[in-house]
Amino acid sequence: RIPVWIDCDTGVDDAAALLVAHRLPQLRIVGISAVAGNVELHHTFENARRVCRLMGADYPVYRGAEGPLLRPLTTAPYVHGENGLGGVELPPSPLMEETLPAWDALYAAARAEGGHLQVIAIGPLTNLAIALSKHPDLKDLVERIAIMGGAAQGGNATPCAEFNIFVDPHAAQMVFQSGIPIVMCGLDVTMDAYLSPKEVEELGRAGTPVCRFFQQSTRLAMAFSERVSKPGLCLHDVCPVLYLTHPQLFSGEEAGVYVETRGSITTGKTVTDLWSDKQFPQHNAFVVLGVDRPRFVEIVRSILLSY
Ligand code: BDR
Ligand code: CA
Repeated sequence: RIPVWIDCDTGVDDAAALLVAHRLPQLRIVGISAVAGNVELHHTFENARRVCRLMGADYPVYRGAEGPLLRPLTTAPYVHGENGLGGVELPPSPLMEETLPAWDALYAAARAEGGHLQVIAIGPLTNLAIALSKHPDLKDLVERIAIMGGAAQGGNATPCAEFNIFVDPHAAQMVFQSGIPIVMCGLDVTMDAYLSPKEVEELGRAGTPVCRFFQQSTRLAMAFSERVSKPGLCLHDVCPVLYLTHPQLFSGEEAGVYVETRGSITTGKTVTDLWSDKQFPQHNAFVVLGVDRPRFVEIVRSILLSY
């Protein structure tokens, strides 16, 4: 089983990613860290702990950064609700809170796994950037980072930038330039990884605590998608999870990816060199561009129904 670390800003699709990852027999979650992003850190940390309780898991959850390296925090309560879980109040976790900071816990886990740890990063990349600068040898201990973030084309936070990268472009640039093999699941693929309103409703009808949570927590996000004329609820953060276990569902290309940190209207853009003659910078990421949506939906559905 692949040892994985999940770094998240626990909003509603992060919660779905945790629910899916926990039930994939190919993965062994060794730790979870929370970062500020969709909502403030106290919520993202608490939400990760509560989702673990919901799925009957006792993974250690660590607190990370309260905000980006250099910029003020941008949040997205209009998608994830003020508490990050669409207003759903899950019961608290009975577990003692971990006190080690995310970056030190991640480093310890990477050492313990002897270079085989893979990181699933589904929030702003602040925790990872701090870990890499505090523990420079971490780059040789992490086998791969599967990121939900960026876009070869377009953006959702701005016309140029995807939310996770926009929130902390400086951290993102450090991670993309770290030399660790990177899989970038950006909007190019995640906008196609959606559940239609009908598919979400059907899941809700199963009536189990997990399916009810899924439907209720994503109501606001679904309403938001409908307002912006999207075909359904994008499960952005589930993509890097399933990429690790089901790479055959996805297509993509090796490319150079460089994060714009100084633009006036392009800050946070993941400048992705798929076509230019320049081929700059050198290929540093596998950029995922497509997904077999029916298969994706079927796997997510069967996992959520398995609880
Ligand atoms: C990303 O931003 C967040 O709102 C989601 O949780 C996802 O990680 C999508 O742009
Ligand atoms: Ca997220």
